[in-house]
Amino acid sequence: MASPSVSLIVLAAGQGTRMNSDLPKVLHPLGAAPLLHHAMRAGQALDPARIVVVAGHGAEAVTKAARAFDETVDVVVQAEQLGTAHAVAQAAPLLAGVPGEAVVLYGDTPFVRTETLEAMLAARSRHAVVVLGFHARDPGRYGRLVTSGDTLEKIVEFKDATDEVLAISLCNSGVICAEAKLLFDLVAAVDNKNASGEYYLTDIVELARAQGHSAGVVICDESETLGINTRAQLAEAEAEFQKRARAEALEDGVTLTAPETVFFALDTHIGRDAVIAPNVVFGPGVTVESGAEIKAFCHLEGCHVSRGATVGPFARLRPGAELAEDVHVGNFVEIKNSVLDEGVKVGHLSYLGDAHVGEATNIGAGTITCNYDGVSKHRTEIGARAFIGSDTMLVAPVKIGAGAMTGSGSVITEDVPAEALALGRARQVNKPGFATKLMDLYKAAKAAKKGV
Ligand code: UD1
Ligand code: CA
Repeated sequence: MASPSVSLIVLAAGQGTRMNSDLPKVLHPLGAAPLLHHAMRAGQALDPARIVVVAGHGAEAVTKAARAFDETVDVVVQAEQLGTAHAVAQAAPLLAGVPGEAVVLYGDTPFVRTETLEAMLAARSRHAVVVLGFHARDPGRYGRLVTSGDTLEKIVEFKDATDEVLAISLCNSGVICAEAKLLFDLVAAVDNKNASGEYYLTDIVELARAQGHSAGVVICDESETLGINTRAQLAEAEAEFQKRARAEALEDGVTLTAPETVFFALDTHIGRDAVIAPNVVFGPGVTVESGAEIKAFCHLEGCHVSRGATVGPFARLRPGAELAEDVHVGNFVEIKNSVLDEGVKVGHLSYLGDAHVGEATNIGAGTITCNYDGVSKHRTEIGARAFIGSDTMLVAPVKIGAGAMTGSGSVITEDVPAEALALGRARQVNKPGFATKLMDLYKAAKAAKKGV
């Protein structure tokens, strides 16, 4: 259960050297969201009273990303990365006097589940310090958990471990939970006399025990503790994220015809009984309501698709596309920053940008809002029950009144009053017999050229 007396400390100061990137590691995207958001989301489900992100490398950008997730988060800057205990200590001034628990998460460890964090909080009734551990298939360079019965005796870092300790497969995930006050007291007592010359957060276990406190371990599946250090691990994590997102969507009552071809973002919301056909990609900020249908090969981001709407195949909904109930968007249609009221139809080959389209209006094939003049964007307003003829160019800013029509192929540069028919094209001229004459002329010219 959520507890109001939890504070989260998210460590995100590291550079992530092995990513070989100018971008701070925690800002690399996973599920179309910064890596950092994943840990924050798992922690936020605990309904924490405070969230403190410890930033360092790329602090400005990391702060921006943290605030984009939750504008109430506090960010502290750890100017020099002297170790995980030193990182936690940076949060002390902000959380001093805040009662309750503190949970330390890593910004580069995206898959820790909220249920696991809840189990750790529950284990606090038995232990003053609770560490999240896992049995590693390949313990590699992880810190090892030295236990005796139900008690965690100490954590030994790889570089400081004896062969005997290295034989232990129970490893430290990095997630630690303790009463905030105790955590900061312990962290303040950590020194850097070890093989790395760093202030290890892991040392607080031995310190706590020396003061007569008990420490314990909650064990989770290794898949939850996957930390991202390299691009290869990031790619692996993306596959894992998508696998989970697909399973969750199916569980939530969404039809996925070919789940393995659909890609979700961390914040994708899809209602029950929505149908998602093969090869659909969701960027950030998409909501698809119950019963809507997204046909094959669509790309959606920053948009809202209401009940009963159908999209695609081969459609692109860009940020600000707002589709009301029963809207139909067909093949090769792109919609950006536009509101389509109930029952609007845009069936084929159209671009609508910076527009509002009133209810039940039909947009003919090939219609384009010419919204950009090379310098500024301009709006197109189309009233309800209008009929826009195929291949109409709507040169914005322009308004089409309710119930108005435009003739096919029109270039509309002036407002059209309600219920008027606008024709903005050259008048047709028929020249009897000219086609045959012209063809004969061309043939004669070609023959003359070849010298036949
Ligand atoms: C840490 C643990 C190790 C554990 C492993 C799990 C310590 C001493 N060791 O090792 O027991 O098995 O994680 O992945 O805690 N960070 C800061 N400031 C710092 C140092 C680190 O914010 O000064 C952040 C990093 O950005 C990262 C996290 O803390 O998100 C972990 O740091 P990292 O250096 O990767 O620790 P490990 O050596 O992997
Ligand atoms: Ca690490």
